[in-house]
Amino acid sequence: MGEVIGMTDLDTLPEILLMGPGPSAVPPQIYHALSRPTLGHLDPVFLTIMDEIKENLGTIYKAPAGSLTIPLSGTGSSGMEAAFANLVEPGDKVLVLINGVFGMRMQDVATRLRAEVDTLEFEWGTPVIPAEVKKKLANSNYDIVAVVHAETSTGVANPVAEISALLDELPERPLYLVDCVTSFGGMEVDLKKWQVDAAYSGTQKCLSCPPGLSPFALSPKAVQRLKNRKTKVPNWYLDVTMLVNYWEAGGGGARVYHHTAPINMLYGLHTALRLVLEEGLEKTFARHREAHSQLVSGLAGIGLEMFVDESCRLPMLNSVKVPDGVDEAKVRKSLREEFQIEIGPGLGPLAGKIWRIGLMGYTARPENVERVLSALQKSIEKA
Ligand SMILES: Cc1ncc(COP(=O)(O)O)c(C=O)c1O
Repeated sequence: MGEVIGMTDLDTLPEILLMGPGPSAVPPQIYHALSRPTLGHLDPVFLTIMDEIKENLGTIYKAPAGSLTIPLSGTGSSGMEAAFANLVEPGDKVLVLINGVFGMRMQDVATRLRAEVDTLEFEWGTPVIPAEVKKKLANSNYDIVAVVHAETSTGVANPVAEISALLDELPERPLYLVDCVTSFGGMEVDLKKWQVDAAYSGTQKCLSCPPGLSPFALSPKAVQRLKNRKTKVPNWYLDVTMLVNYWEAGGGGARVYHHTAPINMLYGLHTALRLVLEEGLEKTFARHREAHSQLVSGLAGIGLEMFVDESCRLPMLNSVKVPDGVDEAKVRKSLREEFQIEIGPGLGPLAGKIWRIGLMGYTARPENVERVLSALQKSIEKA
């Protein structure tokens, strides 16, 4: 028998309080759901679970009637890839509004699909400015306009409703693609009101599931655009024209296998959606806002400043300025090793300059805010 070398004992994994940019803390009900017996991907009970997931996704997205709301097998980036791959045809004109890492990723994804990509960039840590977008849109004929709702790399909330209103002023409204990875389930997202045509999220943020699925939505207009494509969707795994045959009963009422669904992950998502709806959307959003206010005033109390202006701060992703002379990595190391708390570093141009403290889903509770504040103060004193 071969000797097993260096196998980490999963029974003694450390319990780390996840207060970074995701994944967030997972509640016991979701761990329980993940461990339920695996059913077949065409089992009638599982098909019912799938239907409930679709329905609840539509409710939380506030998707208009006739929308398609399904979870994709893959993390948030699979949703981004799917949104562009299904809606872009080579040569289509795409405008990406960029003020952080995930706007840049959108540009990369759309470019790889041979779209004609134009960008409008804003300083990281500040929001997209609608007046600038208006100028960019004048005399343009974009097929798609894309923006990140909650820019996790900076902690900024972008004005998605205002951008949507600008699209209405155009002779022909482009498709509106909005990244809801960090906002979904933690703050208002209203696909109907904002006339969003494609949206996607991830399970590991405000839904507090482990990473692995992407709640995805297409408006009736986007579904129609997909049906009218001249070319095949250039990505087999994320081709929504095929995925719908598994997620929705076709003509004969039968579901057609596409790929083996990640059954137990879907149990986790099913439970997460139920928990959000049982708490109620407004109460869930209020809990995120309250945890955020508690954190902001606690940080001020220990002499720390927020990086983003109050007017556009996200409740679930808090960027905090690293004080001069403090080694930010040393502080994070102390938080992880001495206090069993994970927070996030800054990315790209913000590396070394900010910490990112997540208050997402199950993490967004007063006791966690108190714990991180006390640990942060002690760790900074020592650093
Ligand atoms: C706004 C945003 N978009 C996209 C992604 C990509 O998601 P994932 O890392 O789950 O693939 C993230 C991840 O943090 C994100 O915050």
